Parts: sequence; structure tokens; C-alpha cells
Amino acid sequence: MSLRAGLMDDGTMTTPTPDVLAALRSLRQSRRFLSTPVDDKDLQQLLEVARWTGSAKNTQPWHLVVVTDPETNRALAGCGDFAGFLEGVTASIVVAVEGESRAVAYDDGRLQERVMLAAASLGIGSGTAWFSTGESRQRVRDLLGLPEKLDPWSAIGLGYTDVSQAQAAPQLSGRKPLEEISSWGRYGQPAPPTAL
Ligand SMILES: Cc1cc2nc3c(=O)[nH]c(=O)nc-3n(C[C@H](O)[C@H](O)[C@H](O)COP(=O)(O)O)c2cc1C
Repeated sequence: MSLRAGLMDDGTMTTPTPDVLAALRSLRQSRRFLSTPVDDKDLQQLLEVARWTGSAKNTQPWHLVVVTDPETNRALAGCGDFAGFLEGVTASIVVAVEGESRAVAYDDGRLQERVMLAAASLGIGSGTAWFSTGESRQRVRDLLGLPEKLDPWSAIGLGYTDVSQAQAAPQLSGRKPLEEISSWGRYGQPAPPTAL
């Protein structure tokens, strides 16, 4: 199956894959994991998916560091106020980017989401962690020996989700209703009956 949908060489359209839609709707952040390790081959596959992420002007402004050492993941968990759940991951991929523009932040986000979806397709749970202060990013840089030009803004925590535990506080899950976050044609106009 290819996700490049459209007209094929033989003149037919690619087949719709509604199961992909359902899977996309169901992706959620995992924060509690089992101790079962993630296979190195799976991690390598995730890197390969990450490599194909699109970026502004195809700059690919990133370097990814895979961390499977529990002590290092524990240390990453202590970098900043939001990365605490990395303490329980069996692997993480730290995403270090070059540049500070909006485009670079956007590219980072695209890569994160793509890796999270790829992980889910392998049965692996994942979650984003942000190192949101300069000080926390310097600690990550020191920990991983990253050069000064690379800024480790985020990491993807990975592991097999411990479904017996809550993954998020209630205020961190659920979504606003579609009517609140979207309009058709003009701000404030609802979806037409043909869309419902
Ligand atoms: C840009 C960005 C940064 C995030 N940073 C963190 C973080 O540092 N720590 C964390 O636990 N979750 C982080 N998250 C995850 C969000 O909290 C999560 O996607 C949101 O609460 C929805 O949760 P759900 O996917 O479980 O429904 C981040 C998500 C995004 C998109």
C-alpha cells in the first residue's frame, strides 16, 4: 500500500483505505510503558521513516539520536518540566534541529508525528516530550555529546504501552468539537448538509 494516492499508471485511481483514517484518528500519546524492550531493528525502521519526512525546501534540518540506555533515558526525563515520562520508556529518539525558524519547528513536528504513526504500525506506543528551555536543551546536548549547532528541542519516547495505567490526565486528552475549530467557506459558517 502506498499513501501517495491518485491516478495510477494503468488509469485507475488508488484504492481508498478507510482503515488508515480510523488509525490516524486513534493515535494518542503514550506515557506509561512496559519494561519489554523495543527491538533495534524496529528502531532502525523508525529512523528510516523519519528520514523520509518532508521539510521546508527539503533542508532536512535534523539529527536523530536513539537512546536505549535506561540511565540516559532517566537523565533525559530530568531535563525540563515536561519530559518526566521518559523515565519509563524503553527507547527514545531525540530530535535535534539546526535553526530556530518556524519552518524548522514545523519540520520537527512533522517528523515526530510520522515516527509516532510508524511506531503505532509496529505495535509500539510513543509520546512527544519537549525540552522547552535553553537550559534543559543544553543539558540534553551535554548528555548526548551534540555539537553546539544542533538544538535538541524534543524527543519521542517509545515502548510497549502499559494499558493498565492511565496515559494522561483528563485535561490532557479529548478534543474540542469540530464546530468549534472549523468553518466552511467563511469563518463561523457550519458544515453543509452534504458533509454530514
Ligand atoms: C508540540 C508538542 C509538544 C508536546 N510536549 C509534550 C511534553 O513535553 N510532555 C508530554 O508529556 N506531552 C507532550 N505533548 C503531548 C501532548 O500533551 C498530547 O499530544 C496532548 O495532550 C493530547 O493527548 P493525547 O494524544 O493522549 O490525546 C506534546 C505534544 C505536542 C504536539
